[in-house]
Amino acid sequence: MKIAIMAGDGIGPEVVAQAVKVLRHVLPQAETEEAPVGLAGIETRGVPLPDETLALAKRADAILFGAVGGPDEASLPREQRPGTGLLKLRKELTLFANFRPAFMFPELIGASTLKPEIVDGLDLVILRELNGDIYFGEPRGIETGPSGERYGINTMRYTESEVERIAHAAFQAARRRRGKVCSVDKANVLETMQLWREVMTRVGREYPDVELSHLFIDAAAMTLMRAPKQFDVIVTGNMFGDILSDAAAMLTGSIGMLPSASLGLDRKGLYEPVHGSAPDIAGQDIANPLAAILSFAMLLRESLGLEDKAQEVESAVRSVLAGGYRTADIYQPGTHRVGTEEMGDAVVQALQAR
Ligand code: NAI
Ligand code: MG
Repeated sequence: MKIAIMAGDGIGPEVVAQAVKVLRHVLPQAETEEAPVGLAGIETRGVPLPDETLALAKRADAILFGAVGGPDEASLPREQRPGTGLLKLRKELTLFANFRPAFMFPELIGASTLKPEIVDGLDLVILRELNGDIYFGEPRGIETGPSGERYGINTMRYTESEVERIAHAAFQAARRRRGKVCSVDKANVLETMQLWREVMTRVGREYPDVELSHLFIDAAAMTLMRAPKQFDVIVTGNMFGDILSDAAAMLTGSIGMLPSASLGLDRKGLYEPVHGSAPDIAGQDIANPLAAILSFAMLLRESLGLEDKAQEVESAVRSVLAGGYRTADIYQPGTHRVGTEEMGDAVVQALQAR
């Protein structure tokens, strides 16, 4: 068993170090290997996804990923942007299904931006398609028209088979949960999304035990704020999923709590916190490592099939929260404020105490 560690930039290395502490405790025999990605790749090899990093990703059973990105990256050419490394990695490994669970820890209800009765018991998963959509469609670019005026162009594109495979992933996930799928699109305006809805409906017929509903993205955003508990699995395209999952993050209190798994056709997966490299808080030992630790729990479950160990890690996180430990982002008066390292240590201690 080989686990690739790609910590990346900013708070990536800080939070991944805590997840690795947990890994060493839960899987003392596991072989790990580190490789640079993002700015770290650019600094060491001149590209955001060095060849040896991609080779390691292909060799490994699973990848534990931090975050990539730094300040001023929007001005860089696309090939030199740290985030391009992650996009390429997901694409090269055909990791098309990005699961982002949003789960309300009872201890953190007060940290949510919404009223307790709206979020108490919240447990949904956003399944975002990762390999298609406007992020990859051609043509793209900034061009100059005949009049000399510049224009920007991106193309929303999905093939039927791309929609089919994410649909199957959604219905199968719903079967393991509460049996409901809500597909989110913009079929009233966009042809790509008309095709999306048609294929979702067709694949849905193969899963008569799963309840399928459809919402437009605007209505879905509203419903997510108004009555999020009605959702079980939300399946959507790359761009809508990006936006919706950050909004869902705020429901649960902090983006620093939210893990994700990117899966493909086999068991190999890439596991990373939903948050980015957070340059504003990097190097201060204040980042919340729980999203990274919970991402490792997903790795145990999905790529290694170690459900018991995944649950051990998740209950250790729960007991640390119940014990009052809080990083700055989820701090409330009356709780015990800790740094990144201390939070990681607390989770390991909770595991040892079992
Ligand atoms: P971000 O998620 O890095 O930060 C957003 C806000 O949340 C910031 O105020 C940050 O301090 C806070 N935050 C994030 N993670 C936290 C944690 N674990 N604990 C406490 N607070 C936390 O998103 P932002 O600022 O839009 O992007 C920063 C950089 O990260 C950019 O370069 C962006 O491209 C990159 N990024 C990378 C991602 C990835 O590697 N998958 C995903 C999203 C952004
Ligand atoms: Mg995002």
